[in-house]
Amino acid sequence: MDWIIHVSQLLYLVAAILFMMGIKRLGSPSTARKGNQLASLGMLLGVIVTLFDRQIVQFELILAGVVIGSLIGAVLAKKVQMTAMPELVAVFNGFGGGASALVAWGEFSRGMAMAGEMAGQVSGQMAVQGVPAVFGVQELASIGLSIAIGSITFTGSLIAFGKLKGILPGGRVALPGQNIINLVLTAGVLGLIGWFVMDPTNSTVFWVIFGVTLLIGLMTVLPIGGADMPVVISLLNSYSGIAASMAGFVLGNNLLIISGALVGAAGLILTNIMCQAMNRSLVSVLFGSFGGGDDAGAGASGGDRSVLETYAEDLAIQCRYAERVVIVPGYGLAVAQAQHVLKEAASLMEDFGVDVRYGIHPVAGRMPGHMNVLLAEADVPYDQLYDMEEINPQFAKTDIVLIIGANDVVNPAAKTSPGSPIYGMPILNVDEAKMTVVFKRSLSPGYAGIDNDLFYADNNRMFFGDAKKSLQGLVNALKELE
Ligand code: TAP
Repeated sequence: MDWIIHVSQLLYLVAAILFMMGIKRLGSPSTARKGNQLASLGMLLGVIVTLFDRQIVQFELILAGVVIGSLIGAVLAKKVQMTAMPELVAVFNGFGGGASALVAWGEFSRGMAMAGEMAGQVSGQMAVQGVPAVFGVQELASIGLSIAIGSITFTGSLIAFGKLKGILPGGRVALPGQNIINLVLTAGVLGLIGWFVMDPTNSTVFWVIFGVTLLIGLMTVLPIGGADMPVVISLLNSYSGIAASMAGFVLGNNLLIISGALVGAAGLILTNIMCQAMNRSLVSVLFGSFGGGDDAGAGASGGDRSVLETYAEDLAIQCRYAERVVIVPGYGLAVAQAQHVLKEAASLMEDFGVDVRYGIHPVAGRMPGHMNVLLAEADVPYDQLYDMEEINPQFAKTDIVLIIGANDVVNPAAKTSPGSPIYGMPILNVDEAKMTVVFKRSLSPGYAGIDNDLFYADNNRMFFGDAKKSLQGLVNALKELE
């Protein structure tokens, strides 16, 4: 039935093209929904073709999996807060990696059983005689790599989840010489995979690879500080893709190879973008420690310096007569869930003829695109969103910058303090505007755990309080001016 194979390969190709078109459209908020639909269609096509292609005779287990998985997915999608999204992604990556390892294990066990049968039929000898007929070197190497990368992804992601959830300590947890131990273990595993390829019937080698790589996952993520966790999650996402691609080689499934490679590449690109936006190298993320979680260095310092405050009524009048207002959202906007009331305040200002724009820093919040997603939830028009490179030259012509729950991404220490952990990180140059207003609850530092000189500037005002309450106050005051 050659033609069936050709048709299924052709349909796999169509699915792969749909994935790529989907990913391309995910690049802009205005096309992202369409991109998601295209990629989902590709996935549906891939699943259907695989079910027919593999001539699966028992659908009961698959159906049960689909029903249980869909139920869990639907409940999670409804319940999970946007601020908890990174930890959910961590779990997804972990399960993806774990699944790839299990697929490789299952396929290996099946192959060994077949080899045993074949050897038995031919000469009544041990399974070892039949192995070369079932697995080539490429399959065995793919099985070894899939088990290894999948297991590292699994335990690494669970640790990342635990750190973000606060179940595990956010700071560095490491043995003395941890980096060296990890490098030695990784080199050892590569050697073991070579051994496994040479002698696949030695099940001890197989299980040692499994065990050691589970341990490597734990030991590589435990020492990484909480502030770097989103970068690590993006990297683990890439690993889960590579593991899936390896599982594709094990199964001889082209679509799994392609889609795994796409996830692997996309994860790496994102990791690189995040590192650049934070001015960190991947090496320093993996082998250094930076920040320790939400409460990193918490507590206001600022010494004897004082800040100037503002309140809803005063600010409303200033916004009413401003020509241009730029809004800079940050992590606190997500915590306060103030996106809807922020949009309301912006619309009222626009009614007064104010030119309102939003300046988005690439690592504002706790995950890539965090602010875009929040603002899209509140139906903020996409054409009002400006990337850092676009908005920075506009601050000099801006009357008021409203900084809502953002801190590190506007901290001038990134430009002025060579010793600071964020030194060199590109920031939003809000200090060039005529006036800045920072909405936050206290003078506590942001994620990097460092004080922010912007708060003490003469042209800055602090609007203390929960962002949602403060913005509601601003909305009420703006309405009074109508
Ligand atoms: P942060 O620097 O973390 O500051 C957030 C501020 O929000 C805090 O100072 C906090 O001050 C305030 N806040 C919290 N809850 C609030 C509430 N209910 N109402 C009002 N304010 C509230 O945020 P950012 O400027 O968005 O910077 C992001 C940081 O995360 C950067 O250091 C970045 O490198 C790091 N990071 C981001 C990513 C991605 S991909 N986005 C990845 C890795 C690391 P109070 O406690 O005083 O209110």
